[in-house]
Formats: sequence, structure tokens, C-alpha cells
Amino acid sequence: MKDTIAVLTSGGDGPGMNAAVRAVVRTAIGIGYDIIGVRRGYEGLINGWFEELDIRSVGNTLNRGGTFIQTARSKRFKTEEGRRVAYEHMASRGINKLIVIGGDGSFRGLNDIILENGIQGIGVPGTIDNDLYGTEYTIGYDTALNTAVECIDKIRDTATSHDRLFIIEVMGRHSGYLAMYTGISSGAEGVFIPESKDEYPYILQKLQEGKKKGKKSFIVIVAEGDELGGGFAIKDLLQRDLGESWDIRVSILGHLQRGGAPSAMDRVVASRLGYEAVMAMDRGMSGIMVGYTCMNECVNYVPLAETWEKKKTISDTTIDMFNKLSS
Ligand code: F6P
Repeated sequence: MKDTIAVLTSGGDGPGMNAAVRAVVRTAIGIGYDIIGVRRGYEGLINGWFEELDIRSVGNTLNRGGTFIQTARSKRFKTEEGRRVAYEHMASRGINKLIVIGGDGSFRGLNDIILENGIQGIGVPGTIDNDLYGTEYTIGYDTALNTAVECIDKIRDTATSHDRLFIIEVMGRHSGYLAMYTGISSGAEGVFIPESKDEYPYILQKLQEGKKKGKKSFIVIVAEGDELGGGFAIKDLLQRDLGESWDIRVSILGHLQRGGAPSAMDRVVASRLGYEAVMAMDRGMSGIMVGYTCMNECVNYVPLAETWEKKKTISDTTIDMFNKLSS
């Protein structure tokens, strides 16, 4: 029997995390490791909330949303003391290998515990925001995007019936990736994202011109992290500048986007990355995130620090495409 690997999910949950845990468990057992699930992310590591996982314990999880081993945002793990306690729990169970499914905040913690205690650790990108450098997809993003688009299709029905402008806020605290691709796939008239600071006058003018040309209803997407504020702040600005004759409503999609059964794409991405994480660990790799670059066996190995030091950008061409298609 080889070593024991621990797996945990950390930060905001996302559909497909169960599929990733399943892939980690079945790959690890398949090549001779013992595998422990850690409950509630780094909080569970600090408290020793461990449970043995086997092939059967991950049965029927592939299709379920959320994360059955649960997750948390741990403040204590950000401290050296918290990480030392976590490491002691790991050591007492003979665990020196850790796979973390989460976002860049989770990877910072993983990098720290690797450097401080010499454990072997690998990150698997899991966040609906798709804001990690080094991977085309993060687990949960595709489902969240589909959920947002489904909601907006419904909102468009009522927007059209009432000749209204709807401002729809989607998640993305530091990133407009989800907002931009929601805008492209729902045919929105404007998108506010934190990555661009000068879109307000452009979108205002576009709405005014649209109305002059006979357009009666409009959809504008706002990433929650936009520098002008969320959906309600942008509604106030637009109401002021468009005038009271415009009937404007706000919808905040919020945590709806984080739930639900994972899409087929999220299941595939999660399965691939869970598998690749264990295989990379078996080859002795550490301090990296496995990134997804294409369907056919294309996997990136990205130093953990690059996932937060480098920025995943929304290209000017993508913004230009959106602007041209949304006229
Ligand atoms: O990081 C994913 C995310 O869904 C962000 O888009 C959002 O800002 C945040 O988590 C919300 O976190 P919480 O559920 O802890 O409020």
C-alpha cells in the first residue's frame, strides 16, 4: 500500500466538485493509495474532521450539486498557527499528501502549508467565477453560466412584455468572466465588468440609441464586483441619466448560480482534473494546479503562485465581439 492522500473542497462551492472528489478517490484507490476526505475544507484539517473514502462512498455523487464533503472559508488557516495545527492532525493520521479543490485563496493556503511543512500538495481549480490563470475552465463555471442564461431567457420574456430595462447582477467578486460570457450567450445589450473601467458612457449611449431605433426592452448584466457597485447602484445611475420614463428593474441572481446538478461539461472537466491531480501526485509533482486546456488530454501544470499573481484576462477581441453583436 502506498501513502495516504487527503482531499478537501475549499471556498465557494460549485457544481462538479463532487465529480472531482469522485475522480480523485477512484484514481487514488485504483493505483494503490489510501484516501481520506476532509470535512468542511481547511476548517476540517484544523479540527481533524477526517473520514475514510472508498470506491462506493463516492457512488451516485457525479450528478449531484454542492460538495458532499462540504466546504468553508477558513480564517484560521490563513495564520501560520492554524496551518501548524492542521499539519499536526495530518501527521498524526500519517497523511503527507493533500489535494485541494478550490480557487486562488484556497491555493494560497495550500502553497503555505507545502512550504512550511514539506507536504506534497496539488490544486484543482473549482470556482464558478472561472477567474484562475492557467486553466480555460474551472469546475462549476459551465453550470453557473447555463443557470444564469436560463434565468435571463425567462427575464427577457417579462422584460419584453412590459417594455422594461432589466439590470441583472451575476456573481464575480473580482472577475467579470462569468458576466461577460453570460452577456454573450443571453444577447444582453450591455455588460459591466470590473476589468473595464470606462463602459458606463458607452452603455448609456447604446441604450439611448437603441430606444431611438425602436428597441423597447433591454438586458444589462452587471458583475457583482464592478467598480460602480452592484445592480442597484447601476440602476440608480441609469435611472438618473435615462430619466423617469424608463421603467427599470433589478434582479440579483446570487447563490442560485452556485447550485444545481453539474452540466456534462463540468462533469467532464472535474473528472479529468481529479484524475490528473492524482496522476501528477504519483509522479512526484507538488506546488502546482492542474489546469484544463482542452477536451483531448490537454492538461497544464501551473505553479500555484501563478494562479493569483497572474491575471486571467478578458481579451479586447471578446469585448469587441460582444459590443458588435449586442447592437
Ligand atoms: O468565489 C465564488 C463566489 O461565488 C463569488 O462569485 C462570490 O462573490 C462569492 O463566492 C460569494 O461567497 P459566499 O457564498 O461566501 O458569500
